[in-house]
Amino acid sequence: MELTHSLTATFRAQFNADPLLICSPGRVNLIGEHTDYNEGFVLPAAIDKAIYLAVGPRSDSQLHFEAVDLQQSYTGSTDRLTKTNSWADYLLGVVDQFQKAGLATGGMNVVFGGTIPIGSGLSSSAALENGVGMALNELFNRGTVDRLDMVKLSKQAENQFVGVQCGIMDMFASMMGRANHVIKLDCRSLEYAYARINMAGVRIVLCDSRVKHSLAESEYNTRRAECEAGVKMVQAAEGDTIRSLRDVTMPMLDKHLNQQEPLLYRRCAYVVQENKRLLEAVNHLESGNLYAFGQLMYGSHEGLSKMYEVSCPELDMLVDIARTVPGVFGGRMMGGGFGGCTINLVQADELENFTNVMRKRFLARTGLETLLHVCQTQNGTHVL
Ligand code: GLA
Repeated sequence: MELTHSLTATFRAQFNADPLLICSPGRVNLIGEHTDYNEGFVLPAAIDKAIYLAVGPRSDSQLHFEAVDLQQSYTGSTDRLTKTNSWADYLLGVVDQFQKAGLATGGMNVVFGGTIPIGSGLSSSAALENGVGMALNELFNRGTVDRLDMVKLSKQAENQFVGVQCGIMDMFASMMGRANHVIKLDCRSLEYAYARINMAGVRIVLCDSRVKHSLAESEYNTRRAECEAGVKMVQAAEGDTIRSLRDVTMPMLDKHLNQQEPLLYRRCAYVVQENKRLLEAVNHLESGNLYAFGQLMYGSHEGLSKMYEVSCPELDMLVDIARTVPGVFGGRMMGGGFGGCTINLVQADELENFTNVMRKRFLARTGLETLLHVCQTQNGTHVL
């Protein structure tokens, strides 16, 4: 592959050594949005858009990172990991977590680039964190760190060092993905199972809204807080067995929140219903009923837009247009919301028409050009 060749060439030219190559993919999520931090279920997959890293150890304690796509570099040391408020934090945060976990780290050179569109909600940051975790594992820990532990270290890096309060879905999907499968992950127990997705005749198509509203991060934290507040109210009435929205049912919400706190009710009801939709969706996937699966995707979007209120006009428009195109099983906004992509399941022989219609109508309505990405599922973070 051209990119890995050029990363290798850059690495050799700079450091006069052969690198180890690592591929760390981005992710999609078919259904189960804003459920991960509520101890619910998600259904993601790793995709064939990835960050590639050329890495090697150094004999001193220096850290040299080079982001080829940005044409930027960072130099520091493992002895002093300080936040930079730049992309380097995704790498430094993982080194920091390895150190805090008592795992080995050392000076290293990293040259990386990728094919994940940045800012489209495909989790390029989780992919980068996992890639660095894999590098530290291979270079300094003889490959002994468990995959699930690397997922947790990436998440902590994001939460503590980068300072984004995300859930575990993105890192988990990027690390644990498997080609031709989606992962049904229980974010409470971290138990997971692979469900085969028969992609013969079907395509996963992402439509990029080309917007990223500034609300994204603050509203994400607000939603988390609203869910916690809802849980507290139900807990006060029902007792300590209620620990998260996973323990909450619709009758409980009807009784304790509907009249009292209508806004919290809508937020919590969305999450409870989304978990239910996901479990149903997995059954449809297993029996090959993509039509029924797609209807649940539309249901998810409706809830995200009207009850959880994390969509935006551009995303709603992409879903509205997709609904009218022949050969579309279903579609919904994906990820945190307020911009980024919609995910659509489209009949392969209708792909060309879908592409044309989406482009034309979105442009006519918004003046924005949507970018479409067709994805395949692939294996999680791995050494090449
Ligand atoms: C972002 C976060 C994830 C998850 C989604 C919403 O992608 O990083 O942890 O919460 O939003 O499902």
